[in-house]
Amino acid sequence: MKCSRCGRQTFADFLPVSLYIFLFVSISPTVCFPLPSTVMFPLRVPIFAVLVSLTVGQYDDYDYQPASQYGPSSANCAQECECPINFPTAMYCDSRNLKFVPIVPSGIKYLYLQNNLIEEIKAGVFDNVTAELRWLVLDHNQITNEKVAKGTIDKLTGLHKILFSFNKLTEAVIPPSKSLDELKMMNNQLSKFPAGSLAGMQNLTSVHLQNNELTSKALNGVFKGLNKLVAIDLTNNKLKKLPSGMPSSLETFYGDHNDISSIAAGDLKELPKLAYLRLAYNQMADAGIPAGVLNVTSLIELDLSYNKLQSIPEINEQLEHLYLQVNQINKFNLENICKFSGPLNYSRLKTLRLDGNNLTHADLPHDSSNCLRQASDIIFD
Ligand SMILES: *[C@@H]1O[C@H](CO)[C@@H](O)[C@H](O)[C@H]1NC(C)=O
Ligand SMILES: *[C@@H]1O[C@H](CO)[C@@H](O)[C@H](O)[C@H]1NC(C)=O
Ligand SMILES: *[C@@H]1O[C@H](CO)[C@@H](O)[C@H](O)[C@H]1NC(C)=O
Ligand SMILES: *[C@@H]1O[C@H](CO)[C@@H](O)[C@H](O)[C@H]1NC(C)=O
Ligand SMILES: *[C@@H]1O[C@H](CO)[C@@H](O)[C@H](O)[C@H]1NC(C)=O
Repeated sequence: MKCSRCGRQTFADFLPVSLYIFLFVSISPTVCFPLPSTVMFPLRVPIFAVLVSLTVGQYDDYDYQPASQYGPSSANCAQECECPINFPTAMYCDSRNLKFVPIVPSGIKYLYLQNNLIEEIKAGVFDNVTAELRWLVLDHNQITNEKVAKGTIDKLTGLHKILFSFNKLTEAVIPPSKSLDELKMMNNQLSKFPAGSLAGMQNLTSVHLQNNELTSKALNGVFKGLNKLVAIDLTNNKLKKLPSGMPSSLETFYGDHNDISSIAAGDLKELPKLAYLRLAYNQMADAGIPAGVLNVTSLIELDLSYNKLQSIPEINEQLEHLYLQVNQINKFNLENICKFSGPLNYSRLKTLRLDGNNLTHADLPHDSSNCLRQASDIIFD
């Protein structure tokens, strides 16, 4: 299982196994970003997770940092920070009103700087760890692009994770590390993404860029060739269509709250593993969905709620969860769910939400039961 809070595998180095499992089990379900290749979770979890996480604070990744684990600081530590003697490669500088990034001593691989008042990253602070720093956590600070000095992040060649959410960046800051596996830069003001900056990052698995100002154009080709990338979250940006050149490994794409009005015929053909597609709160009308575009066998969950559809789009019989609430649908197009019905020809739909449309239960065709034999949740209002 992989998710934002379970990411701190390094704790296993010093936590008793039972406590680690406890943290893992007790915390993970509320924040897991579904990564279907590794998570075989009940299929309702993705939507549920968002609902829960909205209430608990979605990406508060650090609230279980075990204070008792700190112990005395090892000698080689910035004086503002703590470096646990039994975990000497980690330097904790979080939540202490820092206004600057301390000089990072050699030997540090995991650097926690979240929840401070940092506005600036001065040249030289990472000079002793340019190759060895693996995790850089800068969430919840006040950093702008202008104040990230040259010779800092652009020198970090061994970084695995960069967590830089809730700052004031307008352009993504990408380290030149081919080892990067996780990139989180949500809740900034990003409108630019340097072209080619992710090229060759063969281990990058997830990219979180929600709540920014990114356009489809700014992201053109950025994800190309990243053949381990399984999840992209671009919720609440300024996309008008799906970014071009997304890799064929992609399993999850979240694009709720954008201005997407169409899906091009080829878009999903290039994504043979796409299982979770969320495009709620966009501008999709029937004309934006050419025939057959959503009829792809890999999709498990499709969210097109809060759009402008007037009919049920043509879907594949393998789809299990279809969210169409709050559109303008006024007829029940059974033929778009099952072209044929028969003993072996039927829809795998379990959930079908149609509330907030111009439809009632009476619009359900009489011959729908064969096609919709697995649908336990058909919601009209
Ligand atoms: C950092 O590197 C400088 C030389 O670049 C060296 O003088 C200093 O001792 C190093 N500090 C630590 C804590 O590694
Ligand atoms: C990618 O991950 C694999 C497996 O963990 C590792 O062996 C490999 O060195 C990584 N590649 C880079 C460029 O870090
Ligand atoms: C979806 O495409 C398949 C062929 O891949 C076709 O047999 C099926 O009828 C289509 N489904 C619908 C609902 O049109
Ligand atoms: C579904 O029905 C079509 C047309 O009758 C048929 O060609 C196809 O083989 C059927 N598929 C299955 C899985 O039964
Ligand atoms: C809603 O559906 C009814 C009956 O199908 C139809 O008479 C009416 O015009 C529809 N209203 C809208 C706003 O589409």
